[in-house]
Amino acid sequence: MGFNRKDLLGIRDLEAAEIEYLLDLSRSFKEINERSIKKVPTLRGKTIIHLFYEPSTRTRTSFDIAAKRLSADTYSISASTSSIVKGETALDTLKNLEAMRPDVFVIRHSASGAPQMLAGRTTASVINAGDGMHEHPSQALLDMLTILDNKGRLDGLNVVIVGDIYHSRVARSNIWGLTKMGSTVVVCGPATLIPPNIDAMGVKVTNHLEQCIPDADVIMVLRLQKERQQQMLLPSVREYATLYGINGQRLKEARKDVLIMHPGPMNRGVEISPEVADGPYSVILEQVTNGVAVRMALLYLLAQR
Ligand code: CP
Repeated sequence: MGFNRKDLLGIRDLEAAEIEYLLDLSRSFKEINERSIKKVPTLRGKTIIHLFYEPSTRTRTSFDIAAKRLSADTYSISASTSSIVKGETALDTLKNLEAMRPDVFVIRHSASGAPQMLAGRTTASVINAGDGMHEHPSQALLDMLTILDNKGRLDGLNVVIVGDIYHSRVARSNIWGLTKMGSTVVVCGPATLIPPNIDAMGVKVTNHLEQCIPDADVIMVLRLQKERQQQMLLPSVREYATLYGINGQRLKEARKDVLIMHPGPMNRGVEISPEVADGPYSVILEQVTNGVAVRMALLYLLAQR
């Protein structure tokens, strides 16, 4: 099975065989990124537009580097420096940019479902680069690729996702992906930051970090999303760090080959201590490196449709 879709909007809709195909293809692009001349002509003449309504360092740069390494022409639109600040709707912005004949839109938006809505109104391909609390599919693919690189499999692994599950599109995309690929996923955090009925996604739920660390093959640490905490879901950041922060002391109970992952950006000293973020179990920068290969694979498939 290949990948014959117009858009990549989420992991939820994908078959396990499609995920496997995307991961295999991503692996084949890794080598280009290690060359001294990191450029191939594959997407010459193709146009990619990055349309970002929310800040981003990793995803935006990674998609841009991926497109340029495939020789596509890329253009970046930020909400803060475009006519979006004058009140133009997302749909009007999309239709005007579409009139310039791009092949792919890479869209990040604070509203869950925005890339899906826009994808239905353009003939260009749309890649969801993170929408609200919904999905971040390229992040989950790069996370799965990083786990595969280090563990050789996804099937049968025990993956613990710790932190602000409620607001996390990274958690949702990883839960869909990892469970389809045969991993057991445990979500851990304060009850207020775990959505009700999340067990319907096929995960185990706990509020006690000490219960899940010893059996974890992978601990995926999530950022405490301070910008989305208006509802006072936490008594204090300090209490959160005390109860759920991943630090060296806690990792004494972990397996000797545990992987520590974080999608970034990190709140050092809150959800993860510097000694863990920069320590021997951390594959956080490998995740970032793999992001370019994953995004090359996605652009390769969708720009040439
Ligand atoms: N992981 C991630 O989405 O990071 P950015 O917000 O920097 O893109």
